[in-house]
Amino acid sequence: MAIFQVASDFTHVQLISPTNGRGEPGMNVTRPFSFEMPTRIEYGMGVVKNLPAEVSRLGVRKVMVVTDEGVREALADDAVIRPLKEAGTDALVFDGVEPNPKDRNVEEGASIAREYGAEALVALGGGSPIDCAKAIAVLVSHGGDKIKKYEGKTAVTRPVLPWIAVPTTAGTGSEVTFSSVITDTEAKYKMTVKSPLMAAKVALVDPELTFTVPAFVTASTGVDALTHAIEAYTVTCSEPISDAVALQAISLISRSLRDAVGDGRNAEARDGMMMGSLLAGIAFSHSDVGSVHCMAEALGGIYDLPHGVCNAILLPYVMEYNMEYCLERYARVARAMGVGEDAASAIAAVQALCRDVGLPALNTLGIRESDLDMLAEMSARNISTESNPRPMTKEDYLEVFRRAMET
Ligand SMILES: [Fe+2]
Repeated sequence: MAIFQVASDFTHVQLISPTNGRGEPGMNVTRPFSFEMPTRIEYGMGVVKNLPAEVSRLGVRKVMVVTDEGVREALADDAVIRPLKEAGTDALVFDGVEPNPKDRNVEEGASIAREYGAEALVALGGGSPIDCAKAIAVLVSHGGDKIKKYEGKTAVTRPVLPWIAVPTTAGTGSEVTFSSVITDTEAKYKMTVKSPLMAAKVALVDPELTFTVPAFVTASTGVDALTHAIEAYTVTCSEPISDAVALQAISLISRSLRDAVGDGRNAEARDGMMMGSLLAGIAFSHSDVGSVHCMAEALGGIYDLPHGVCNAILLPYVMEYNMEYCLERYARVARAMGVGEDAASAIAAVQALCRDVGLPALNTLGIRESDLDMLAEMSARNISTESNPRPMTKEDYLEVFRRAMET
């Protein structure tokens, strides 16, 4: 496993060590990896106006817009529906996506899309509508009425219904990732459906769409993006392209988040967050996330808590647990954040950032002590546990949950 030194101005990447901080001996060469980026990205203030032209490039006349009630009320008509209809495209809105999107939302959306004869989808919203749209695209193109059938990394075998991503929060990065995280409502856990075949055709990434996102949502989604970047940079399967992208994401997010939370109309801060979130999405979709996400997904599955809040609560504690395996990498995180030269400074800076943007502590969220054992078990079973830089058993998870609860 190779370590790469990224220059402080991010202009070059240089191999400096044969390990990724785990202390494993190895040859001083890059291990084989592949990097695929099937989604075309159109980035910038106002790019959402290109949506009708992008739909027409797909050669389709009937689209279903997948969103949630809040986004529909706030901006769907002006930003998406009216422009599409004015351009002669038939557009139906499905706004039945719940937070932590549920299997029932995917199945209802797929049934409506089939009945309507949707030729493409437009995913408009934060991570929930975008992940739901991806799963609807799988179900419509692959058949069946249960998304559970497509859980895992191998069940999606051919191109899915084409879809365009229009993110309205800076956090998930789902516009460029290949996975959809859906809550299995029967088993109460979050399943993942993953394949590069699920990638959006185009992502219209417009920071202006985030100007009206409330401060708390800005904070929690922003820390989700920071978690993606830090985990992508430190997991065992990290590689040099995602490393470089992740470090730039860490730099942008850590210098923009407080300002974006403080003043939603601060264009520079919103731009920094949107780009940071996009880059973090590219990074973790090509490496992985680690134990923070394993724990956050367990919490989200059982308690239906916002994903970003769960990450924010756990990130510093997992970083503490990982620290001895990540001394060099966390030191580079500290440098990217502009807070110092050592691993401990990175952890302290992450803690301070979460506190400054108003994110709560774990023991304020009504988590039952009696559930911790089950949450630790679910976290250990999550496939991304394997990617965490320090091996983590169910007992280790339990200890980290307890530490987070005590503070
Ligand atoms: Fe996440």
